[in-house]
Amino acid sequence: MIIAQISDCHVMNEADHPHNLQLQDAVARINSMKQRPDAVAITGDINGGDDLTPYDQAAIILGKLEMPFYVIPGNHDDRDALRQTFDQRGYMQDNFIQYGISHHDVRIIALDTAVTGESYGHLCEERLRWLSIKLAEDYESPTVIIMHHPPYESGILSMDGTRCYEGDALAPILKQSPNIERVMCGHLHRPTFAWFGGTIAGTCPSTAFHVAADLLNPEENLPHAEEDNPAFQLHYWSGSRMVTHQVSVAKRN
Ligand SMILES: [Fe+2]
Repeated sequence: MIIAQISDCHVMNEADHPHNLQLQDAVARINSMKQRPDAVAITGDINGGDDLTPYDQAAIILGKLEMPFYVIPGNHDDRDALRQTFDQRGYMQDNFIQYGISHHDVRIIALDTAVTGESYGHLCEERLRWLSIKLAEDYESPTVIIMHHPPYESGILSMDGTRCYEGDALAPILKQSPNIERVMCGHLHRPTFAWFGGTIAGTCPSTAFHVAADLLNPEENLPHAEEDNPAFQLHYWSGSRMVTHQVSVAKRN
């Protein structure tokens, strides 16, 4: 099984905005792969505008994906708008946008780390309890967790201030489940990997713009990396292990 991961699309109202065009290119690339991904995980920050109108554009672009896709909210998203735009399959029924998808070869568990009106991520008792119960349903099948905010510090200080702060509570829950192959996050707008909760956690680059590896810089400005292309990832489950690849998309102006 192959799961493509698209993150932080930051779709805008203008149909020809570079963010939209780059996302279109990513979607076209995924659709045209000889070995097409079986599913696409879209790990938050679909909206890039100041209001909710870009979801119409996002629906058009992401609606072209020729395989099932699963979305979770990022800090720029609105839960109600996500439900209205993408929940034709009815998997976003809970208060939070958390769900388990079990009919693929790899189980996908979506966690909702968004906090309305805030940039940082949070996993409250309710969300963590839900995860424990969901994981306990199946300790055998290969499983990935998708969530927007990474639960670990990256060293990019301006981003670490808005990470998911409940890493210490999340890690022991993940450790109880021996079948978690990945924790797939977004938010950082650049690729990272870290050992976390007894598995490999990582962040997927953005299809909109890249953040620089400006480590341990105390300045608060978000360091854009103009020289780096947008990208998405492919998580290939071979039957015995998961291998992650990264695919770049050309920058549009
Ligand atoms: Fe983002």
